[in-house]
Order: sequence, then structure tokens, then C-alpha cells
Amino acid sequence: MGNRIDGKVCVVTGAGSGMGRASAIEMAWQGGRIVVSDVNAKSGEETAAAIVAQGYETIFIHCDVRNSEAIKALMDKTAAHFDGIDVLHNNAAVHETDLTPHTAIDEMPEDIWNMVYEVNLRALWLGIKHATPYLKLSTKDASIINVASTGAHVAFPMSAAYCASKGGVVMLTKAAAVDLAKYNIRSNCYCPGSIDTPMMRKYLEVSEDKAATMKMLTGAHLIPRLGQSAEIAKLACFLASDDSSFINGAVYVIDGGTLAWRGLND
Ligand SMILES: NC(=O)c1ccc[n+]([C@@H]2O[C@H](COP(=O)([O-])OP(=O)(O)OC[C@H]3O[C@@H](n4cnc5c(N)ncnc54)[C@H](O)[C@@H]3O)[C@@H](O)[C@H]2O)c1
Repeated sequence: MGNRIDGKVCVVTGAGSGMGRASAIEMAWQGGRIVVSDVNAKSGEETAAAIVAQGYETIFIHCDVRNSEAIKALMDKTAAHFDGIDVLHNNAAVHETDLTPHTAIDEMPEDIWNMVYEVNLRALWLGIKHATPYLKLSTKDASIINVASTGAHVAFPMSAAYCASKGGVVMLTKAAAVDLAKYNIRSNCYCPGSIDTPMMRKYLEVSEDKAATMKMLTGAHLIPRLGQSAEIAKLACFLASDDSSFINGAVYVIDGGTLAWRGLND
């Protein structure tokens, strides 16, 4: 076991899949006590079982982050079970290609825009709102870790709601840092490039020209491959640990170099 997170109680939303699952597992390995949360009970339970199988402490709590009361219940149940909350990892998100074939900005149905906004931005605020009473009581360098995207900085096709929501996550992160610094609660976010997860694979699957889409996804990486969830989990853990104790309101790019240039590899 690593020990960077040293007994901190960490709530991870969207922990049933992809990067959320990898972060939950890595946080447990680094000494965290983990609440695995997801709207998908089956995949969430699988993540929790994988953590238990490694001999670490966790519980699964079902939560649809579109529902404010469910988010409040997630924080209350976590605090009751583990006697507090030290880290909120706001990771759950959806992409419009998961929801509809009509994702161009002029075609997107209003309910799809609303859903992306609710899951990707409003829920992060509600998570912060309902976790803050517990984070304030933390004696272990409390922090919030939000997941944005390179889509917060540069737009990509068929993703207007997603990119707009992720741009909002960057500013929500900074606003939380400003308002909560007086309680010794840090708030940071990171912006992954193209990472090999079910969300990325679905985006590829529904695209008309898969070769061109794959080139768009990985060709922009100076490191010419997809990122892996385990690589992102290391950054999530760094931001959750005391090693990042002087980092607040920061926006980390973890994208294989995408935002560093305007080129496209072959
Ligand atoms: N994969 C990428 O290339 C990429 C790039 C940049 C940013 N991101 C971001 O990284 C984070 C993780 O993405 P991923 O690629 O691992 O996605 P994923 O689709 O593999 O996992 C997302 C998880 O969120 C859960 N979820 C969806 N709606 C929910 C809801 N209403 N309530 C609770 N949970 C819900 C899903 O059940 C799933 O387990 C997201 O914030 C995503 O936007 C992903």
C-alpha cells in the first residue's frame, strides 16, 4: 500500500467506470477510505468489490447526481459511515453522444443540453454545497477535485454542451477555491486529453468517420497514444494528498501535450 492519502475519506462520483473507477482504486491503494458512488449500481458495486478484494476499506452508495437530495444523502451517509469527509472527487459526467445522435449545436434537443449541464456542472456545485459542511470539519487538509477536460479550452465537434459544461467546471473550481479558502478547503481541477474509457469509445463508435475521429483524438497528443485511466488517477491522488497542500484554484492539463501546440500527428 502507498500511504499518500493516509486515512482520508474520499467520495468519488462516477466511480463505476473509466477514470472514476481507476481513481477510486488508486486512492484506496494510497491509504484512502473510499466511497464509491455511481448512478449505475452494478458497475459501482464492481468497483467497490475490486477495492475490497485488494483488502482496502470502501462502501458503495448509489447516487444519481442529477438529484440534489440524492447528492445530499450521499454526503450525509458518507459522513455517518466514516465519521466525516476529507475529499470530494467530482468525476461523474456524460457526453451528448451517449444520449442522442443529434449533437450538432444547431440540432441538439433542449432536454439533452439540460441533462449534460445538470450532470457535468450543476451536480458539481451541488456536491460542493452538500459536502462543504463536512469538509469544514476535516482535520486532514480537505480538498475538492473536479474533472474538466481539454474541451474546456478548445472545442471539438458535436460537443457544444459538453465543452460549455467543462468550461464552467474550470471557473466553478476557482470560485470554490475563493469561497472556501477561509475554511482550509482547497479546490482544484484537471483537464484530461483523450483517455481510453467507455465514454471515449462511445464517442468514437458513433462518429461517421472513425479513422478521422481517432486521428483527431490521438493525433493532437504529442505523446502519440490515448491516455490511460491509471495515469489520470495518479494526478487525482496527488491533488487529494498533502503533497499538494499549497495548490489551490489550479487547473491541471493532463493531455499528452495537446494544448501545447496547433499540430496534428500523422
Ligand atoms: N474519456 C476521456 O477522453 C475524457 C476526456 C476529458 C475529460 N473526461 C472526463 O473524465 C471524467 C470521467 O470520464 P470517463 O471517460 O471515465 O467516463 P465513463 O463514461 O467511463 O464514466 C462516467 C461515469 O459517470 C457515471 N454517471 C453518468 N451519469 C451519472 C449520474 N447522473 N449520476 C451519477 N453518475 C453518473 C457513469 O455511470 C459512469 O460510471 C468525466 O468527467 C469526463 O467528462 C473524459
